[in-house]
Amino acid sequence: MKNDLDLFRSIADELMKAEQEEAVLKPEAPENLFKRLNIELSDEALSDDEFGPILRDVVLNTPRTATRKFFNQLFGGRNSKASLGDLLAVLLNNSMYTYKVGGPMIGIEKELLNRSAELLGYPANADGTIAPGGSMTNLMAMLMARDKAQEEARTAGLYGARLSMYTSKESHYSIPKNAAFMGIGRDQVRYVDSDDKGRIRMDHLAELIEADRAAGFQPFLVIGTAGTTVMGAFDPMAEIAEICAKEKLWFHVDGAYCGSVIFSAKHRSLIAGAEKADSFSYNAHKMLGTPLSCSLILVKDRSWLHRSFSNDADYLYQTDGDDYNPGKTSLQCGRRNDALKFWTLWKSAGTKGLAEIVDRQFELANYALDYVTSNPDYRVYSFKDSLGICFNYKDVPADLLCNSLYEEGELMVGYGQFQGNEFVRLVSVNAGNDKSDIDRFFTQMEAFAHKLNVNHST
Ligand SMILES: Cc1ncc(COP(=O)(O)O)c(C=O)c1O
Repeated sequence: MKNDLDLFRSIADELMKAEQEEAVLKPEAPENLFKRLNIELSDEALSDDEFGPILRDVVLNTPRTATRKFFNQLFGGRNSKASLGDLLAVLLNNSMYTYKVGGPMIGIEKELLNRSAELLGYPANADGTIAPGGSMTNLMAMLMARDKAQEEARTAGLYGARLSMYTSKESHYSIPKNAAFMGIGRDQVRYVDSDDKGRIRMDHLAELIEADRAAGFQPFLVIGTAGTTVMGAFDPMAEIAEICAKEKLWFHVDGAYCGSVIFSAKHRSLIAGAEKADSFSYNAHKMLGTPLSCSLILVKDRSWLHRSFSNDADYLYQTDGDDYNPGKTSLQCGRRNDALKFWTLWKSAGTKGLAEIVDRQFELANYALDYVTSNPDYRVYSFKDSLGICFNYKDVPADLLCNSLYEEGELMVGYGQFQGNEFVRLVSVNAGNDKSDIDRFFTQMEAFAHKLNVNHST
């Protein structure tokens, strides 16, 4: 083990140095890259002297998503204390289903969930769990909602039940996928129109529910989004809560992207009313910067979590009782320890430190937004208080610009669409960045776009 830890240290040092020198790698065709890196597995063992350089090459040739030039997705940066926690979780290799094998890690997961529920404004009866990603926490919420609406779904199956559910057109693609997995069917997901800022339109939601009831469907769930994937918009949670209470529907808040605003006194109002939801999920691996993946789901009434996910297994649950055996409320059996990395971050930074992370991201996003709105060369599609800054620069098509920046190893940024427009989406979730990184992004992108436009038109 010692040799491998030494190897880890030397590769990690080299990687971090390389990230400083070359923040974005020029991509290579997959076939070339896989061959060049000697990825192929063979029958014979390798000596450490042969193995070390191969591993080093693989690591140094992997896209650099933790650098100051990565604005492509809803995660980024590298939080040192969170990385430390995750590295130790790997060494310990516990499985998070029982207290017997998880010990204090179970207490750590419970503490994260309890404190998050408190911050959200949930009652003492709330509970939750950590799942591998926001798609999975959405699935868990959808399953609980289904089981509440159709008691027999868990035993006899859905049979002819005609359940229908509602979410905005801007919501995440995991929702229809999950609807297919769980027997609701993609066709029963109703996509509610959004307003010009990407927020769900309440009048349209009410109309769709009414039309479904008239057609013999059983509406059962509304999913509001706290931070839509492209526009970063926040649905009006208090209004959704109201309609769900009136219509007796489960209300889930998908806060995978921006649910971490629960930590910020300044930005908490963006999800005002979310405490009325039946369930709420957020990804610590997006705004808070823990390593992937770390998605928490909180459930207002813990009994639903047990009802949908609990299963006896006498070969597994032998000591300590359900409260200390979180496998009982999980989608999984073996569970990776996704709690420790979040706890090492939270414990070391304090809740105030997490608020600072969240506030900093909005500060950087608003700084970028001010830049594009005050510059006539930009056409702007996004709004204040969104971590996704959406724009077009001059007449350069967004796909051409983003793909060329990637191909030339300049910057990692992607593009998105909203209401018929396609634009560059700069995501500002790396709390390790500062304003100079945003300035550098625009300077570099503009110079590149200029070159591109010249080449493009000649
Ligand atoms: C709004 C929203 N929900 C859910 C997800 C899925 O989260 P994960 O990537 O952790 O599965 C995403 C991912 O970007 C998202 O933006």
